[in-house]
Amino acid sequence: MTCCLFSLSAVTITLLGAGTLIGFIYLLNERKAQNRRKVQRAAVGKMAIGGPFSLITHEKKPVTDKDFKGQWLLIYFGFTHCPDICPEELEKLAEVTELLNRQKSKQKHPFQPVFVSVDPERDTPELITQYLKDYSPHFIGLTGTREQVAEMCKHYRVYFSQGPKVGNDYIVDHAIIMYLINPNGEFVDYYGRNKNAKEVAYAIEQHMNAFKAANA
Ligand code: NI
Repeated sequence: MTCCLFSLSAVTITLLGAGTLIGFIYLLNERKAQNRRKVQRAAVGKMAIGGPFSLITHEKKPVTDKDFKGQWLLIYFGFTHCPDICPEELEKLAEVTELLNRQKSKQKHPFQPVFVSVDPERDTPELITQYLKDYSPHFIGLTGTREQVAEMCKHYRVYFSQGPKVGNDYIVDHAIIMYLINPNGEFVDYYGRNKNAKEVAYAIEQHMNAFKAANA
């Protein structure tokens, strides 16, 4: 019995020791993982958003990112068959445009709202023209081949995925985000659904003023 108790406590001590060691290794690994995450976060923070693209406008004009240099762009990715979120966001984009156009005379670089289709299969230039008409005469709509759209989305880190088809009907799940690009073609800021038109317009105005001051 004593012998058993002894060996039992020996086993306990051994287990405790092993447990401590495992715990220690775990802590070390956890710290390493934390550092890795920190490095990763820093990299993501600096990750370049935006980049070259080659698409066609709703007027069937081929365009690249270079054609938009000298303009402030607010880019929204969506699709014309979107049942609820895109209409809301495009209304917001139209309102932001109206708000900013009131100050147009003060800005050297024009403000250009852009809609990029993540559903090029159905979103023809004709359909996009029809669709955007309901929101604002100032919008430029962009579409292209599936590859061209995927390429732009990759640069802008915009996730999109086509849902199951019922006939020709399907939903495209997509990121809901507006990207602000400055006249040098550089990504400056982004706005999600949580910001209303006034807040977005105000934020953009601040960026425009800062850009003007820095480039005066
Ligand atoms: Ni949508």
